[in-house]
Amino acid sequence: MFLSSISLLSFIAAATAQTITGAFDCEPAGAYTLCQNLWGASAGVGSQNSTLVSATGNTVSWMTNWTWANANNNVKSYANVQSNTAKGVQLSAITSAPTVWNWTYATQSSGIRADVSYDIWFGKASSGSPATSASSYEIMIWLSGLGGIQPVGSQITTATPVAGHTWNLWKGPNANWEVFSFVSSTGNIQNFNADLKDFFTYLVSEQGVSSSQYVQAIQTGTEPFVGAADLVIQSYSVAINT
Ligand SMILES: *[C@@H]1O[C@H](CO)[C@@H](O)[C@H](O)[C@H]1NC(C)=O
Ligand SMILES: *[C@@H]1O[C@H](CO)[C@@H](O)[C@H](O)[C@H]1NC(C)=O
Ligand SMILES: *[C@@H]1O[C@H](CO)[C@@H](O)[C@H](O)[C@H]1NC(C)=O
Repeated sequence: MFLSSISLLSFIAAATAQTITGAFDCEPAGAYTLCQNLWGASAGVGSQNSTLVSATGNTVSWMTNWTWANANNNVKSYANVQSNTAKGVQLSAITSAPTVWNWTYATQSSGIRADVSYDIWFGKASSGSPATSASSYEIMIWLSGLGGIQPVGSQITTATPVAGHTWNLWKGPNANWEVFSFVSSTGNIQNFNADLKDFFTYLVSEQGVSSSQYVQAIQTGTEPFVGAADLVIQSYSVAINT
């Protein structure tokens, strides 16, 4: 996806200034909830702010500005939107999970280390908060990973085709859950339009995940390590159909 600087500037100018600045601030964002989640900030020095641009129907647009230094290998935050409705469904009951995500860096410093990623949480119960004792699996989909950063664990496949793209799959434990991370093997995917069910089907058929697991949450956002950037999410949506 490419936007001229003029259309990007007018896009940013159209933003209704609903900016959150506190480390754990959240705000309603239509069918989603936008949260700063600066959980790793104490490892470094910097700041981050996130703004809801618009929310219409099941589509949301938002942006986040960050500048972080020190602790090159530590994630500082996961500013994200979480769907209020795409959750609480058993994998075996999902007929499709369509998603569209267009994003771009309006500005970025040289040498940023950051991903742009889905963070999807599975558990044995129909509901549970992400990254808690209720979590069985964390499924990340990296549409971008800049600066040589790596996911949790180790790489177990190379250029695996799923949902119309190819991915290097990483696997490893984190606290009481298992993490699978699909990292784009072709670089940035800035105009992603896919069915998340393809990832779920692959995990059940090839990676031993039980289809009785529930999707407890679908989040999308960015994990910055170091550098400075303005990440603009022009358009994002996700749904689960049964
Ligand atoms: C992020 O930076 C851009 C350009 O510098 C600015 O227009 C925008 O208001 C900033 N947004 C936030 C949330 O600080
Ligand atoms: C975030 O907002 C605070 C308070 O307004 C400001 O001091 C800081 O520079 C902002 N950070 C970024 C990266 O825009
Ligand atoms: C965003 O993605 C949708 C669906 O793929 C596409 O129709 C639309 O043109 C994209 N928007 C931009 C600004 O590229």
